[in-house]
Amino acid sequence: MSNDIVKAIEEKYKNMGQDPNTYLKGLLHSKLINYWDYVEVDTLLSLQKPRTDFTDEPIFIMYHQVTELLLKLITHEIKQIVDNENIDTAIFANKIDRINRYSGILTESFAVMREGMDYDQYNQFRLTLAPASGFQSAQFRFIELYCTDAHLLVNSRVKAQVNADSDMNYLFDNLYWKDAGLDHKTGKKTLTLSQFEDRYIDSLKATATKYKGKNIYNRFLKLNASDEKVKALKTALRNFDHTYNVVWPLSHLKTAEYYLNSKGENKAATGGSEWQKYLHPSYQRRIFFPELWTKEEIENWGK
Ligand code: HEM
Repeated sequence: MSNDIVKAIEEKYKNMGQDPNTYLKGLLHSKLINYWDYVEVDTLLSLQKPRTDFTDEPIFIMYHQVTELLLKLITHEIKQIVDNENIDTAIFANKIDRINRYSGILTESFAVMREGMDYDQYNQFRLTLAPASGFQSAQFRFIELYCTDAHLLVNSRVKAQVNADSDMNYLFDNLYWKDAGLDHKTGKKTLTLSQFEDRYIDSLKATATKYKGKNIYNRFLKLNASDEKVKALKTALRNFDHTYNVVWPLSHLKTAEYYLNSKGENKAATGGSEWQKYLHPSYQRRIFFPELWTKEEIENWGK
């Protein structure tokens, strides 16, 4: 071992008030790392717990798990932007490029759901899943609040009346996704929504409050629009808004239509929403970065 390395190690531990010899002796006994422990392969492969014996149910579970991991990768990049007030524009753009890569995987791979499961099997094992629904994916909702202001995520009925200064509780009462949580037959809150709110609403509200004025959209708007790097960032952000809020929702909706309505039966979704209307991007009008789009592009959102 070179003296420089030994010296650097000594210094590192001395700086922490530790005896370097203890740590060097420890190296004599510590076990080598291996792939399966580092990646936690056994844990990862033990996380699939189907509720039926249908052979295609594990596909459904694993693909949701893959999605949650990709959402975690997206969140990982987003957090490095929103938590660093002085982020360099080129690094900001590089992180959005990474996010676009992950969002691309999410949309391109959705065929695993649309074409990769047996129609009859899906329609039987899904009956054991109510009131659970992908609607209850919290990462989807946190990502929205890291990306944009809560007043841009409200339903179309109140959108014109709210702004960045509106009361957070009022905005939350009117978030666009609450529309999926009213049982269209009874008009009451579905169990799917009330369980989700009991579990996550406080932390979602805290996130919206913490990142108000500091989310991805606010960060972008503070940059100098004529800078070439900012122009590249704008293109990347438009790409993200479109992939995440139009392309993915359309692939997802087409899949729901295939399994729930391809024979005109209009089956009830496990989350009980009026899903054909609700899931369409032109109904939700979820747009993270409205100023990056023309009036016409906004009018034609999702069409
Ligand atoms: C066969 C596959 C799928 C079908 C038929 C399907 C169907 C549906 C339906 C009908 C809804 C409306 C809420 C409800 O009433 O339950 C919904 C919501 C949702 N699903 Fe799926 N889904 C599928 C796969 C997935 C996957 C793989 C994910 C990934 C996590 C996912 C994530 C979501 C999300 C995030 C929502 C809420 C959408 C929003 O609020 O814009 N779904 N799904």
